[in-house]
Amino acid sequence: MTTVRTPGGDKNGSPTGAAPIWGVSQIAPAGVMEHLAEIRESVDRALDEYTRFSCDSPSRLTNAVRYSLLSSGKRLRPTLATLACELCGGNVGDAIPACVALESVHVYSLIHDDLPAMDDDDLRRGVPTCHKQFDEATAILAGDALLTFAFEALTAHISDPVTASRCVLMLSRAAGPQGMVGGQTDDVVWGEVMRNLPGAFDLAGELFRGGARNMEEGAAASTAGLFNFLTRIHRRKTGSLIIASLQLGGLVAHASEESLAALEEFGRHFGQAFQISDDLLDALGDEATVGKRVGKDEEAGKLTYVSLLGIERTKRALDETVAKAKAALEPFAESCGVQSTAYRTIHFLVDGVARRER
Ligand code: IPE
Ligand code: IPE
Ligand code: MG
Ligand code: MG
Ligand code: MG
Repeated sequence: MTTVRTPGGDKNGSPTGAAPIWGVSQIAPAGVMEHLAEIRESVDRALDEYTRFSCDSPSRLTNAVRYSLLSSGKRLRPTLATLACELCGGNVGDAIPACVALESVHVYSLIHDDLPAMDDDDLRRGVPTCHKQFDEATAILAGDALLTFAFEALTAHISDPVTASRCVLMLSRAAGPQGMVGGQTDDVVWGEVMRNLPGAFDLAGELFRGGARNMEEGAAASTAGLFNFLTRIHRRKTGSLIIASLQLGGLVAHASEESLAALEEFGRHFGQAFQISDDLLDALGDEATVGKRVGKDEEAGKLTYVSLLGIERTKRALDETVAKAKAALEPFAESCGVQSTAYRTIHFLVDGVARRER
């Protein structure tokens, strides 16, 4: 069995106070909230500075980009990149171009995800979605601008060309057809089929029944088949950018291949956990706290943990996945020490995924 070392209180073992993160109050080890605030401040400053485009970018486009990018998201991907960089020996400043690129790709994906042709949402991060605030064409173009700008941010601001090109390869692969866009495609097509063809869900289950000898075996086989497909969707639509965030953090710190592999393993579980908790928030969350409409996945016929397993089993799956993510941090407990600020902070974030309310 894997040992998971949990950072305790402060360096003297004293208990530390409760702090709000992602809508809930949690006990944070000493220094963690301050460190998260420091990362957030540096990232927000860079997002603002990097996107003061020249007047060749039409003001409506610049405004739409900045409206969505600077709105109050959790900055999860930049935070993961920064912590991975620190776990691999770098510091907050080294990760900044990667943070800007990652948040840009993420926000482009949200703008497009909210469009009428995709999830058709009108609320994001507590404010109107980009196409509601501006218009559909501007939202599509703001997404295009953010995606391309991400690669400008990486190549213009990472001075070592080898590191820059490794980051470009990693991010483009994660965001592209074999990564996020691939996952989004399966997610959207599945929803479209389920909404328009009565009986499609049952038929999909039938496809996995194979040689089952009785009803129970058949039901188990179809749930397992659909579960594998769902896991594949999550791995690409959410997991790939989360893994890339961690690996970009590692790359800018010149991490070893072993460390990059450990970050990938951690990201695989963390990414799954994060999308499982997103599915739970859609089913159970409070709109004002989550900052986006809830109850939409069921309406849209989405394949989610909740639609497949129900609430209780989904909560258990989340706990199990969070435990795997924690276990995958073990190599960094060895190399950085469980009491290092970066280790304590990333551990705290993993706990946050299981409890988050936004
Ligand atoms: C929402 O991501 C979309 C998913 C991939 C689940 P976040 O929950 O990180 O959104 P923001 O950045 O905080 O708005
Ligand atoms: C979207 O997943 C993931 C990406 C944008 C890549 P969801 O459609 O579940 O995200 P929310 O719930 O709208 O944030
Ligand atoms: Mg979606
Ligand atoms: Mg959506
Ligand atoms: Mg969702």
